[in-house]
Amino acid sequence: MHTTRMGLVTPRCAGLTVVDQASASGRTFGWLPRTRIWPTIEGVSADWHEIPGPAPTPPNGNLDDIAAAGGLHTFQLDLHERHGPVARFELPNARVVSVADPELLAATSMINQRPQELFEFLSPLFEAGNLQTIGEAEHVPWRRLLLSALGNHRSHEAHFDAFTRMTLELADRWAAQTGEVALQEDLSELSLRLICEYALGGDLGSSRRTSAAFRDLIAEYVARQYGLPSALGAEGAAEALAYVRETVTQVLNSRPRGSGLMGMLAESGWDPARIRDTVLVVVMAGYHTSGVAVSWALHLLAGHPEIAGRLRDEVDGVLGDRPAPSYDDLKALDYLDRVVKESMRRYPPGPYAARELAQDTEIGGYRVQAGTTLMYPIWAIHLNPAQWPDPERFDPDRFTPAASERRAKFAFIPFGFGPRSCEGAALAMAEIKLVVAVLVKRFEFTPVPGHVVTPVERFVLWARDDIRMTLTSRG
Ligand code: HEM
Repeated sequence: MHTTRMGLVTPRCAGLTVVDQASASGRTFGWLPRTRIWPTIEGVSADWHEIPGPAPTPPNGNLDDIAAAGGLHTFQLDLHERHGPVARFELPNARVVSVADPELLAATSMINQRPQELFEFLSPLFEAGNLQTIGEAEHVPWRRLLLSALGNHRSHEAHFDAFTRMTLELADRWAAQTGEVALQEDLSELSLRLICEYALGGDLGSSRRTSAAFRDLIAEYVARQYGLPSALGAEGAAEALAYVRETVTQVLNSRPRGSGLMGMLAESGWDPARIRDTVLVVVMAGYHTSGVAVSWALHLLAGHPEIAGRLRDEVDGVLGDRPAPSYDDLKALDYLDRVVKESMRRYPPGPYAARELAQDTEIGGYRVQAGTTLMYPIWAIHLNPAQWPDPERFDPDRFTPAASERRAKFAFIPFGFGPRSCEGAALAMAEIKLVVAVLVKRFEFTPVPGHVVTPVERFVLWARDDIRMTLTSRG
């Protein structure tokens, strides 16, 4: 982590002053007290080239800088420390403006389009168009239907018993195991089971083979994106994809009913290919993310015994002798809610989001051309000391209602924001709270001595060699 004083870059925009707010910890961003985004460039003096940022090296732009920083997530921390809240960099196929100011985020929050190039690697997964990048006209009704299923509390409640059973199975397995546990491996396996059960329902959907096919497929595409060795090969990937599609078709043909995802999709009247793609994208988006979020929370709790003790007291008080909370109990687990949010601030499972500008636009005083990629560096935004004093300190009380009220709306965006924000946010929060509550009720977690936890970005924020702990069952 750098501790240099930042925020000294002054955007050349009349009427806006940059205030240097270097904090005690040293990390800060240049701060724009008033920010504007207008779909007109009239009166703007500074051009894209004048946006501060590292010099690109053709033909790869700043790829070498990104690699040297250890990945896009750490590059973005450096970028904003050095260059302030609006900074530019280049990828081989895109010019990027990265924005880390909550007011500018608010001002760009209605942009719907995602950049094609950045998500192109996922295109072969889809039959009816890349759901990460479909245009607004198609996206708006798709999102509406997805939200009515994924954001529906009754549908979360309907799956809660199955989620609880699967979580307790993992806890039993851990209790029977000696030696250390690799949290991310086991918890992402659990979150895959949970999302398959949610998205497909019943035994067919949650069968081991279906989960394995989804897991292999996603691993394959992440490997392709990051130039890692392929485990499946082209033929294996095609087989897994065909199997996943066939499974979804079978579930749909069984005419599922009810308010769950499949019931709604079956009644949507959509092209079956779009339905299969939707299930695939939901499983993909819900797979690693929730498990990784739980693992980071346990990592932080293990390093902060006082906070872990306070959480355990709350969970013991609400659950009594029961091993798991009911869906209704989640409302009473107030400190748990804060712990989960603070963990996602420190280690956001999705470390960045992106949009594409449809028209020439002024951002923070700079003229930015249509077609430019806007990047939202979620991790850097969550570590901005202007919003989060002493940003690296783990303090769940940052999320008391009063403290949250005082903060800028877009200072905390683990699920993104605007019309492309995560449709699975409420479901993910229910899953994560359930799993954390069960595990802290059952175990004490002790980090394996000498094991170093290093965040790396592979579509989500992982730890390079997992997060290894030894577990002690509580009496
Ligand atoms: C801790 C858990 C999760 C985190 C941190 C997370 C985070 C995110 C983020 C940052 C985005 C991009 C938002 C943007 O561009 O503004 C996203 C998109 C998305 N997420 Fe999640 N997610 C999580 C779990 C889930 C789950 C469980 C589901 C499904 C059940 C899901 C479904 C989606 C979908 C469908 C999108 C694409 C949104 C669109 O293009 O309209 N996510 N998520």
